Amino acid sequence: MKQPEIDWDSLVEAAIEARERAYAPYSNFLVGAALLTKDGAVFRGCNVENASYGLSLCAERTAIVRAVAESQRDFVAIAVAATPLATPCGACRQFLAEFGLGIQVASIDVDNRTQVKRWSIAELLPESFRLER
Ligand code: THU
Repeated sequence: MKQPEIDWDSLVEAAIEARERAYAPYSNFLVGAALLTKDGAVFRGCNVENASYGLSLCAERTAIVRAVAESQRDFVAIAVAATPLATPCGACRQFLAEFGLGIQVASIDVDNRTQVKRWSIAELLPESFRLER
């Protein structure tokens, strides 16, 4: 099926807005994510930290979990906003890969918007783990 055009400017704006809700009192590193579905819906996420550090959730996974819980699984793209620019961690790459290696990722530095990087999940996570069912 043909993928819709990605309006990166609006997706990045949504990620920047989502970042304002980040709960990151331990690292003070605020991250926002905006996940675009095939039918044009956008799900936002922010990082949510915890006093038990290892429980902290990244912005990307928060957005994915929100979308899946609303019956959306067809993802086209995700924008990630932080400063300095943050590339998705390994766990988030695997989490995104579950829903498609073709998902496009853009990371943007909120304080210097000329700093943008783009990849597909296939590029970010070669040889990703898949469980054949
Ligand atoms: N973090 C994200 O939310 N997304 C990323 O892509 C990189 C890291 C969060 C996790 C933690 O709350 C904080 O940033 C510092 O690692």
